[in-house]
Amino acid sequence: MTTQAKIVEELEFPYCENASEKYEKLTKIGQGTFGEVFKARDRKTKRIVAMKKVLMENEKEGFPITALREIRILQLLSHENVVKLIEICRSRAGAYNRFKSTFYLIFEFCEHDLAGLLSNVNVKFTLADIKRVMQQLLNGLYFIHHNKILHRDMKAANVLITKNGILKLADFGLARAYGGMTQKGAQKYTNRVVTLWYRPPELLLGERVYGPAIDVWGAGCIMAEMWTRSPIMQGNTEQHQITLISHLCGSLTPDVWPGVEKLDLYDKLEVPKGQKRLVKERLKPYVRDQFALDLLDKMLYVDPSKRIDCDTSLNHDFFWEDPAPSDLSVMLSRHNQSMFEYLAPPRRRGHIPQQQQARPPTDQHFERVF
Ligand SMILES: Nc1ncnc2c1ncn2[C@@H]1O[C@H](COP(=O)(O)OP(=O)(O)O)[C@@H](O)[C@H]1O
Ligand SMILES: [Mg+2]
Repeated sequence: MTTQAKIVEELEFPYCENASEKYEKLTKIGQGTFGEVFKARDRKTKRIVAMKKVLMENEKEGFPITALREIRILQLLSHENVVKLIEICRSRAGAYNRFKSTFYLIFEFCEHDLAGLLSNVNVKFTLADIKRVMQQLLNGLYFIHHNKILHRDMKAANVLITKNGILKLADFGLARAYGGMTQKGAQKYTNRVVTLWYRPPELLLGERVYGPAIDVWGAGCIMAEMWTRSPIMQGNTEQHQITLISHLCGSLTPDVWPGVEKLDLYDKLEVPKGQKRLVKERLKPYVRDQFALDLLDKMLYVDPSKRIDCDTSLNHDFFWEDPAPSDLSVMLSRHNQSMFEYLAPPRRRGHIPQQQQARPPTDQHFERVF
């Protein structure tokens, strides 16, 4: 590198330490849409961290706005149930990377993600364990919503759990602030967020003025998955997802959801008619607790204005009736291996309970998966 290039490098990123000098990569633990994640060790302090690479390939110049947003939001949020961002590091720019630095987000390390745990049949969650998972998840969500942030990508792989049983919401790559107003009124956001299987009906129908209820829907899907052990509505397309939601939660009609007919895609998608709401009925064989079923029913309410919020959920009898939420570290101490979605076999088929696999699909095109 020329002296000049060296000076520019140092001037541009004076507070970013060199990633490979400071951390030793141990194993790859994640591959998301936006980059790879590694388990790594601080060479000096020996602290174990997670390094998330910032994908720069599509950037002609400068730092990707999505990563900047994630960093800004993580810096704002400090809570036991939100993953902690330690620092940003970079690789040294040189001829080998066309003088472009690679950046890494350095996080506190969590031993597991929930998708990894749920895909392992040896990991058994008791009712009290599930209460503790959901209580921490809703606590984290309550905190971020209180800070006017929407997560917008709730799913089991984005929920981390430490070996001490502390749950951390992670992956703020799609998160954003909400509640802002423009001159024309409420600010509109893109509806192309949230992994399809966890996407609420209002987003599927094209709502662009949405709020915290979108994350509660995802939390409800995750809660059901604590028992079913695989995502409850695995649509292949947006149309398919709407169909699956209608089959479980009943038809999306103005009767149960006033105003739904005004959403952009209501006339463009085929919205099944005459479907009964079967949330409790269909989940009962898995979720044998009436309080859990009642809370699930309220989290999976199709009209976002009537869907339960985090605060009310946390006050629900589910958390206050016996058995009380447990300390997850007791169950986790039986497992001495890290469990991550990336390292687990695909969950899509293999882990559906036997009786379900044996049963013929109820509908050729829209097979239920739980
Ligand atoms: N702090 C962390 N500790 C342990 N594993 C992590 C951590 N952060 C991310 N991971 C793992 O990496 C995966 C991908 O990271 P994530 O932040 O969700 O990025 P992406 O936007 O690529 O999905 C997660 O699902 C999880 O398995
Ligand atoms: Mg993710």
